[in-house]
Amino acid sequence: MTEIVLKIDERQVKAKAGMTLLQAAQQAGIYIPTLCHHEKLEAFGGCRLCMVEVESRGWTSHVVSCLYPVANDIVVRTRSEKVDKIRKVLVEELMAHAPDAPELVKMAEEYGANRDRFEREASFCVLCGLCVRYCNEVKKKNAVSFFDNGSVRQISFVPEVARIECWDCQECFAICPTSYAQAAYLLTEALAFPGQRKTAARAVKAVAKPRVVIPIMPVS
Ligand code: SF4
Ligand code: FES
Repeated sequence: MTEIVLKIDERQVKAKAGMTLLQAAQQAGIYIPTLCHHEKLEAFGGCRLCMVEVESRGWTSHVVSCLYPVANDIVVRTRSEKVDKIRKVLVEELMAHAPDAPELVKMAEEYGANRDRFEREASFCVLCGLCVRYCNEVKKKNAVSFFDNGSVRQISFVPEVARIECWDCQECFAICPTSYAQAAYLLTEALAFPGQRKTAARAVKAVAKPRVVIPIMPVS
């Protein structure tokens, strides 16, 4: 595969053609903040926190590093006055939804973001899509999906699928940056299939119990 040479934060970095700037930076041990990125998932480009400054043929632009491909001789800056300003506003917007999400609190400190700058719409979901995409791309279950568009867009569990698939998976809980995935699942369970998780767990335990083998007596 063709080798690409570029500069990231004053360091010469080698990457393979087809890699994104984020992948090239991570491979070189250079940190770029992310929220909607997960190494097992297709790039989504939703949060834009991974925005970086790119200089190419005399032009400077700001690009989403988890989507933007590496190219020879470009110069990438993971921090600059403008990049930091963009990240600060993005963090402030996201904090209107999830003011106490640990990753956002950390980024707010780093970029001097004010968690109260925008009016609170505490939906607790930042629509990063990690739960939806993980369930679709890794688990192939589609138990959780996006519904509606624009300002009313939200994620929701599909009760018919969640009832069967989620009780012994719940892998999306750990990758959700705000804990909303867990809350949304528990709400769905309480409203659509209360108590069924315990019933299912008991059923599996019973099946998993070692069976008693009855010796067959020889017929005389
Ligand atoms: S529930 Fe969590 S993982 Fe799913 S979209 Fe919302 S913030 Fe992201
Ligand atoms: S990590 Fe790149 S847009 Fe979210």
